[in-house]
Amino acid sequence: MNILILGSGGREHALAWAVKQNPKCDRLIVAPGNAGIAMLAECADIDILDGATVVTFCEENAVDFVIVGPEAPLAAGVADACRAAGILTFGPSAAAARLEASKAFTKEICDACAAPTAGYARFTEAAPARAYIQANGAPIVVKADGLAAGKGVVVAMTETEALAAIDDMFGGSLGEAGAEVVIEEFMTGEEASFFILTDGVNALPIGTAQDHKRVGDGDTGPNTGGMGAYSPAPVLTETIQNQAMSEIILPTIAEMARRGTPYQGVLYAGLMIEGGKARLVEYNCRFGDPETQVLMLRLGAQALDLLQACAENRLSGAQVNWADDHALTVVMAAKGYPGPYEKGSVINGLDRMPEDSRHMAFHAGTAQRDGVIVANGGRVLNITARGATLEEAHHRAYAMIDLIDWPQGFCRSDIGWRALPK
Ligand code: AMP
Ligand code: GLY
Repeated sequence: MNILILGSGGREHALAWAVKQNPKCDRLIVAPGNAGIAMLAECADIDILDGATVVTFCEENAVDFVIVGPEAPLAAGVADACRAAGILTFGPSAAAARLEASKAFTKEICDACAAPTAGYARFTEAAPARAYIQANGAPIVVKADGLAAGKGVVVAMTETEALAAIDDMFGGSLGEAGAEVVIEEFMTGEEASFFILTDGVNALPIGTAQDHKRVGDGDTGPNTGGMGAYSPAPVLTETIQNQAMSEIILPTIAEMARRGTPYQGVLYAGLMIEGGKARLVEYNCRFGDPETQVLMLRLGAQALDLLQACAENRLSGAQVNWADDHALTVVMAAKGYPGPYEKGSVINGLDRMPEDSRHMAFHAGTAQRDGVIVANGGRVLNITARGATLEEAHHRAYAMIDLIDWPQGFCRSDIGWRALPK
């Protein structure tokens, strides 16, 4: 089977690594890829936001299966274009990807199927939005409706902050994404990520994880795309997973099908857990980054069989073979991230890394220049390890980090703290 993965981050490196373990995989191409991915797959520099370009590339390279990594090509309809051309594709249609691309749409679906989530109101003008904030007070959450690369959510602890967010979004700071705004009740509790494969009818949970969104130790400083993750997330107990499936996930899948826009792909539910119950924070229409790095290290080769079963509407008989293990990933980022940072600094020591089924240095923003690996983004490396316990995985990942010589990089030193013994 010839496989094309779209994307260039740590998530796509982890997907490529898992897919490559499977003997079914003949040729593996990742577009556009990165320096780490280039060590295990061919990389192709094509415009992955353009469906016609991707289809032509597939036809020219006899691609049998396309796996779409990030949300942007999904929202742009790249999965639709591939399927219309008869190419087996993993990833939702643009219509189904609205679960991530429009926060107001997700709220509408939650209403229609009575899924527990934060109370909310939607606005297309600043004056009523400001009045709503003044009437409800802070803390309160202001969200741009559309895709905003992680910059569209303001968790406002004061009314002033919330009003400033309204002025910003309706002032055009996020462009079209901020033309509509959702204002939500502030939820307290512990957040966790739940990943479910669905073919539009059947659903198969494929793991839990917990991300670390803040840049600094102890969950301090600004929000990022994620500074580390581990799997499984003990806060998502079996009971809570069952409740989330029956009250949130299955009703959402049924509602999407009822509307004639069935969801096929991975549904990534961000959940807030409090008092033994989960409420939906948000949906993403793709795998999490860096959560995928821990999921793939745990799933290995079977990931390809599962993604293929999902794309071929064969999930009803599928199951996940779990090892009783734990995985943890630490993100190494360029100093300055999530603010401005420099590109081009040299990363040494990667050749000293153990790389086997228990240790992987996944690359995110890297490039190769003159035979050396250089930083080429904000989040640069995802140092990932597996162990019989979370402590063991934690110890292994940080031991790998000690081998890396990259003065211009940094990482959090406390990934996993919520689940590690105190
Ligand atoms: P989202 O992009 O919707 O996941 O929002 C980004 C982050 O903001 C989430 O991961 C939460 O930490 C936080 N957040 C979003 N909505 C709420 C809410 N209603 N209450 C509390 N925190 C929230
Ligand atoms: N790790 C958060 C995300 O992928 O959205």
